[in-house]
Amino acid sequence: MNKFSKKGFHSICVKDPVIDGLSAHVPPIYATSTFAYDNLEAAFDFFKSGGKTEGVYTYSRLGNPTVKFVGEKIAALEAYGIENLDVFGLLFSSGMAAISAAILANVKAGDKVITQGNLYGTTNELLVSFLKDYGIETIYADLKDLNFVEDAIINDEKIKLLYIETPANPTLACYDLDGLAAIAQNLGVKTIVDNTFASPYIQQPFKYGIDFVVHSSTKFLNGHGTATTGVVIGKNEPAIYNRVYGIQKMLGAVCSPFDAYLLNNGVKTLPIRMEQHQKNAQALAELLASHDAVQRVNYLGLKEHEDHQLAKEQMSGFSGMLSFELKGGMQAGMNFMRGIQFCTLTATLGTADTLVTHSASTSHVNVPKEQREQYGITDGLIRCSVGLENIEDILEDFSHALNGI
Ligand SMILES: Cc1ncc(COP(=O)(O)O)c(C=O)c1O
Repeated sequence: MNKFSKKGFHSICVKDPVIDGLSAHVPPIYATSTFAYDNLEAAFDFFKSGGKTEGVYTYSRLGNPTVKFVGEKIAALEAYGIENLDVFGLLFSSGMAAISAAILANVKAGDKVITQGNLYGTTNELLVSFLKDYGIETIYADLKDLNFVEDAIINDEKIKLLYIETPANPTLACYDLDGLAAIAQNLGVKTIVDNTFASPYIQQPFKYGIDFVVHSSTKFLNGHGTATTGVVIGKNEPAIYNRVYGIQKMLGAVCSPFDAYLLNNGVKTLPIRMEQHQKNAQALAELLASHDAVQRVNYLGLKEHEDHQLAKEQMSGFSGMLSFELKGGMQAGMNFMRGIQFCTLTATLGTADTLVTHSASTSHVNVPKEQREQYGITDGLIRCSVGLENIEDILEDFSHALNGI
């Protein structure tokens, strides 16, 4: 059983295990590629066990004490309060490394993945362009249409994996985890949820019977934008663990001990940050919804959002992410961004400060309009990761930018 499991959520976040012989209060960074054996017998035992001797380390690609406990801590948060669930957590060098490993652990050449069209761009590219060349095909479906998903799986026995991102980037669309997990389980299909936008403080997909949770822990889990990391959490059964661990070992996209240390520092304040992120996001969403220049606001905390009810049922809050559509299209989007003086113009999310991005004129400027609009990236769409500043400062900056359009 995971050593963190017995305490409350906040306690798991802040309390670290002792991982060295000196009882360091803050677990040290094991900045070493290799570990020496005490003697030949110790080395012999280690290799005979296939490298699985608990507490024995040999080479940091195969395991590192700093990296290991942070993965276990995040796994405990994802499994928090769920009866009889034992999970492992493995840290990776990025969210994409974690997502790739989780997908590869579940499909092989000839298999198919079913997923939504509005995925994070690089996940989409991985599935559609990259994995296609290795014989893995991706089918898009409206994951809100449970009957369609069920029929699609029944009618195509090659579908082995259902990949879900909820809330989704950038429209904040939510998908019914309970309903989708039930269909998948019934039909023997594995499920992965990208929980980056919500974090385990707000949403725990394992509650609904999901098989794997992945994160870009670069985002809310780290919380300060100090390191690129990812995590895969799955049921702690030898066949499942060995598959993900084996992929990590062979592809080698391990998390660095320093990045794991930074991630752990961020996780300590996850609950209080998420509370403040969503409090500020709600206030900003309300301001935006009342402004003449704004066509539509995508924030799950607004009753008008089409997924507000579903979010209330499967999440304990609404997170700090929102997006909104400006009436004036591309020009309005660019003018708005030029008017932002206090918040930060950047495409990432989940840091302590407020981040604003206009995808159509930046990250997606080379993607044809029809193609990006399919995924909700319209000309006037602004995405915002609402930070922890004084709300008056955020509101003033946004009001100024909106009034200058
Ligand atoms: C929802 C989501 N998943 C995955 C990723 C990829 O994570 P990383 O950049 O850490 O590889 C991102 C990055 O923005 C994301 O927003």
